Amino acid sequence: MSMGSLEIGSRLDACLALAVAADPALADVAAVIAACAEAAVDVSEVIGRGALGGGDLAAQGEQNSDGDVQKALDVLAHERFTEALRGAPVAEVASEEAEGVMLLNAGAPLAVAIDPLDGSSNIGVNMAVGSIFGIRPVGSTPENPIGSFTSPGTAQLAAGFVTYGPATSLVVTLGFGTQIYTLDRAERVFRLTSPAIEVVPAAKEYAINASNARHWDTPVKAYIEDCLAGSDGPLDKDFNMRWLGSLVADAQRVLIRGGVFLYPGDNRKGYAQGRLRLLYEAAPIAMLMEQAGAAATDGANRILDIGATGIHERVPLVFGSTEDVAVVAKYYGGRN
Ligand code: AHG
Ligand code: MN
Ligand code: MN
Ligand code: MN
Repeated sequence: MSMGSLEIGSRLDACLALAVAADPALADVAAVIAACAEAAVDVSEVIGRGALGGGDLAAQGEQNSDGDVQKALDVLAHERFTEALRGAPVAEVASEEAEGVMLLNAGAPLAVAIDPLDGSSNIGVNMAVGSIFGIRPVGSTPENPIGSFTSPGTAQLAAGFVTYGPATSLVVTLGFGTQIYTLDRAERVFRLTSPAIEVVPAAKEYAINASNARHWDTPVKAYIEDCLAGSDGPLDKDFNMRWLGSLVADAQRVLIRGGVFLYPGDNRKGYAQGRLRLLYEAAPIAMLMEQAGAAATDGANRILDIGATGIHERVPLVFGSTEDVAVVAKYYGGRN
């Protein structure tokens, strides 16, 4: 098989190969995950060399279609992942770093939504960054050329993210729970380190960018006020706060020790639907959370029930421990 769709066993632990053995239809999906893993090893090594002075990965370039200034590593990661996916059974890619849908292998069965480099504000300061992907069946038509990406997140066959942190890890689901693989740098192989993540139903940690407090919508203002009131307030527990500036890093922490993450809509220009994108950030994270027994909403409604109308569409995002996410939904007065 070509470079991009490496033999599963050589790059990802037997667990993924077992999923394929259980359902041969997953072979194409697993090949795409293997291609993402291959690109992730490259990006991880580029980051390491960058930290050693091998090129200014934070050098700023053009604006992307979502208005973010592209850094050198955004573009490099986009190129590495796109190249790896060209060698896998992928017909279409929707990337944060490309305006429209990219056409790769005509007739291939799968479409991939990708955030090649998440947490770009952390580039150059040696803080964790990541890559996020969601894998779907192709569904575009001449009438709806982005049709592969407009179905709700429940159409995803698999999702994952890579965290380039103290260790490089691959968090992935094919619909049979959420696993974590850790990169063995010497062998350039991801090894299965957590076979079945289970998120605690409630915890005492919330993640939000508190500098936006004056802009938040009312339900979030009320919820955070009650978090700050701690055990003296209606939530009757003292909270800790974290905000890592990198969605994947906050998501990995929530998967491992629970808690709740919020990027709500706010009244800044362009932020009515928050900052995070549905297709290549919220939907993959939501699948990984639900497969780990956690939850993901837009504050009140399940993320995986929402279909995109544009590939860069934003959505407010709340995810984490089921009881904490349900409490937030109460402040929105919505079902969840
Ligand atoms: P990206 O770098 O892919 O554009 O995503 C950055 C996102 C996400 O990683 C993080 O949670 C959020 O931006 C941080 O936003 P603020 O800088 O507004 O806190
Ligand atoms: Mn960006
Ligand atoms: Mn991102
Ligand atoms: Mn990005």
